[in-house]
Amino acid sequence: MPEFDSLSRLASIAALYRADEEACLKRLIPDAQLDPDARRRVSDRAAGWVEEIRRTHKPSTSVTDLLARFGLTSQEGLALMCLAEALLRIPDRATADALIRDKLGSKEDRAHWDKAFASGAPWSVNMTGWALALTGKIIRLDNAGSPGAAVGRLVSRLGQPVIREAIKSAMQWMADQFVMGQTIENALERATAPMREGVRFSFDMLGEGARTAADAVRYLADYEYAIDAIGAHQAKHNFARPSGISVKLSALHPRYEIVQRDRVLRELVPTLTALCERAARQNMTLTIDAEEGERLHLSLEVAAALMENLGAKAWEGLGFAVQAYDKRAPEVIDYFAALAEAHDRRIHVRLVKGAYWDTEIKRAQERGLADFSVYTRKSNSDISYVACARRLLAHRDRINPVFGTHNALTVAHIAELAGGTDGIEFQRLHGMGEDLHALMRRENFDTCIYAPVGAHDVLLGYLVRRILENGANSSFVHRLLDADVPVSSLVADPVQESLMHTHLRHPAVTLPANLYKPERRNSEGVDLTDPFMTEPLLAEIARYGHPSVSQEALDTDTLFRIAGKAFETWSKTPVETRAGCLEKLADALEKNRAALMALMIREGGKCIPDALGEVREAVDFCRYYAQRARADFAPLPLSGPTGERNYLHLAGRGVFVCVSPWNFPLAIYLGQIAAALVCGNAVIAKPAPQTPEIALLATDLAWQSGIPRSVLQVVPGGADIGAKLVAHKDVAGVAFTGSCATARAINRALAAKDGPIVPLIAETGGQNALIVDTSALPEQVVDDVVMSAFRSTGQRCSALRILCLPEQTADKTIEMLKGAVRELTVGNPAFLATDVGPVIDMAAKERLEK
Ligand code: FAD
Ligand code: 2OP
Repeated sequence: MPEFDSLSRLASIAALYRADEEACLKRLIPDAQLDPDARRRVSDRAAGWVEEIRRTHKPSTSVTDLLARFGLTSQEGLALMCLAEALLRIPDRATADALIRDKLGSKEDRAHWDKAFASGAPWSVNMTGWALALTGKIIRLDNAGSPGAAVGRLVSRLGQPVIREAIKSAMQWMADQFVMGQTIENALERATAPMREGVRFSFDMLGEGARTAADAVRYLADYEYAIDAIGAHQAKHNFARPSGISVKLSALHPRYEIVQRDRVLRELVPTLTALCERAARQNMTLTIDAEEGERLHLSLEVAAALMENLGAKAWEGLGFAVQAYDKRAPEVIDYFAALAEAHDRRIHVRLVKGAYWDTEIKRAQERGLADFSVYTRKSNSDISYVACARRLLAHRDRINPVFGTHNALTVAHIAELAGGTDGIEFQRLHGMGEDLHALMRRENFDTCIYAPVGAHDVLLGYLVRRILENGANSSFVHRLLDADVPVSSLVADPVQESLMHTHLRHPAVTLPANLYKPERRNSEGVDLTDPFMTEPLLAEIARYGHPSVSQEALDTDTLFRIAGKAFETWSKTPVETRAGCLEKLADALEKNRAALMALMIREGGKCIPDALGEVREAVDFCRYYAQRARADFAPLPLSGPTGERNYLHLAGRGVFVCVSPWNFPLAIYLGQIAAALVCGNAVIAKPAPQTPEIALLATDLAWQSGIPRSVLQVVPGGADIGAKLVAHKDVAGVAFTGSCATARAINRALAAKDGPIVPLIAETGGQNALIVDTSALPEQVVDDVVMSAFRSTGQRCSALRILCLPEQTADKTIEMLKGAVRELTVGNPAFLATDVGPVIDMAAKERLEK
């Protein structure tokens, strides 16, 4: 049997993680193309299905129909959806009604709706759709004055209670469309008739994103119970095609993240092995769903460990979902085939396009990553899908291919590639693609329905993905019933569609680096979810020794004399030069990221993600102030009533003293300095006594970037030195971040001096409170609280100190919060797995303990 070389396979997969889209596609296009005859057959077959569906489809109140009419791209559609989503959680009527009033009832809202209609948005249709959903019957919105008035009337005439109940039932109705049953028993009952006709089901217990160990235990119990119930149902009815179960691994472990790899492998794999063995005993399939791209690497490692545990047993029910919109998909398919080969077993792979597109795009942008992990054009994902299908079919000796899609063209393409329908299965999601599957079954396709099961309070993530998917104007199901979309465009070759564009990548999906263009470049992140990126960074951090930067210790008068002289030239240096220095400094910071992080970890006790975030913040400060200075320092022409020329110029003030804290030893240190310098001031900086080395390194990089040593001087030291600097007669301004007491003392010191008033820019700490209302999703509250209160070991000035919870939902939130905090790893900040590092010094520790 061939060896399974996990590492080299993972490396080749990782190489594609955020690879160039054009290069990825060019590799795939040959596999996505068909010869002209085959292409025609595929298009004709798909067109036949589409035409028949359009002819025979009975307009109904199904979700497909409703969402086909929604414009989720419109603000109004989203506003209503958000309102409806939040309403479901609010336990008391008064708050629910207040929210409705807040979102729909104000004068401004009415004016907004009027404007939305006037803009020609497809809103009248949407509104009808919503009204339909709201009350179960069409409320006529026409000939009733302005649409805004209609909305207002809905609220005021029907009254908030009616709206409240209507929206709730509309949302529940929508949930029912996508969820097979609230319990596995209900779901099995509903599924029995189609099962008799040979339709298979894969039940999903709707668990995902456990935040606590208790959540994970509960989700596991749901899955175990469901497996037994489905097995018993199968034994009772003896259906020809036994059903299965789909599992999300993020439900089974509260920290299903690559940074917790060792823990996950140790704790989750045995649980998962037992779950698979349970499914095997019931002769069921168990498919592991694909979730966010950042979990993929971990899932591949879990899959390898799981296969090792299962050994070469006869059960062929194990399967994995693969997302074709992810650039790594082809290699992932090969990975599973090689894994099956190495363990001498058959598995199934369910190819899907992928349901987390918006999340992938947004996260990559927020983290400043090199590129997206997913394609940016829908047709590119379609190309990847059919190319991956070809690859999957080539592995039929080891893999049972399964295709999850509602797209008639995609189905026809695969049937063509497979030379028929034998040995392949097509799957759809419950609530979607019914019409297409009915036609396919007539043509003897094997079909299966992915059937979510669960109560309304756990379905939100799933429901939002379905609503986005069905409401997106690019999606096949959205366009299928839209008579304005010609059939030819629904069955157009995706390769032709992509090649039609000058750029294969979609230009409107902004690359992370370009988020703030044209003004400035975004700071660069490092993908901490990619071990092949983090390992070299960690090694570099570990290698970093001590900086050898120093500045001669000078007395205060000398410092001010040097600075005062330097100011005269620096303030006359063109703003372009000063801004250029900051931009050079930003680049230097990125180049020296590992060294800066090393010092922040060692000197400041920062955890790795916090240290990385801080480098990015410092970089953003430099680029932002450079950009602002160019704009603000350009001479502003004023009017000249007697023919003279008048200009407004901004200029530096003189010598600024910048006093910064240890909790952001790089970002705040440089933020203050960069702002003062770019305006033409000279700076004497006093970093916190706890973190002088990081400040010295940052200062050195500033000098290397063209800022003269005399313009920027650094004086590490304590409060006594700070006080002396601030009290000096030649201070032209002070920037301070720290405690209120010190800010007051500085203020008094400045006020006590004769001469011009000296500005003080102070940012002080405070008691930051988070106020939660009952509409908030507990998981989101807990994520934010944990992030705000415990990241940077709770030492940010913005750290959460006070959490205000409503009585009705407090117990649940507190329980989840306690569970989530219990899952945090406290320890050495140099380890990627550590969430909470040390506090800054013994004094801080003692204060905390007291
Ligand atoms: P189409 O309309 O042809 O394709 C829509 C898809 O195209 C979108 O969902 C997205 O993936 C992609 N897309 C849309 N816009 C763009 C764009 N601008 N750039 C790039 N791509 C774009 N999803 C998961 O993530 N994990 C799973 O484990 C999973 N399991 C599933 C199981 C089954 C049985 C089924 C049927 C679906 C499953 N899904 C899963 C959901 C699946 O990803 C979506 O239903 C699917 O993407 C819809 O594709 P389609 O071929 O039906 O429709
Ligand atoms: C999802 O949960 C179906 O797994 C897919 O969106």
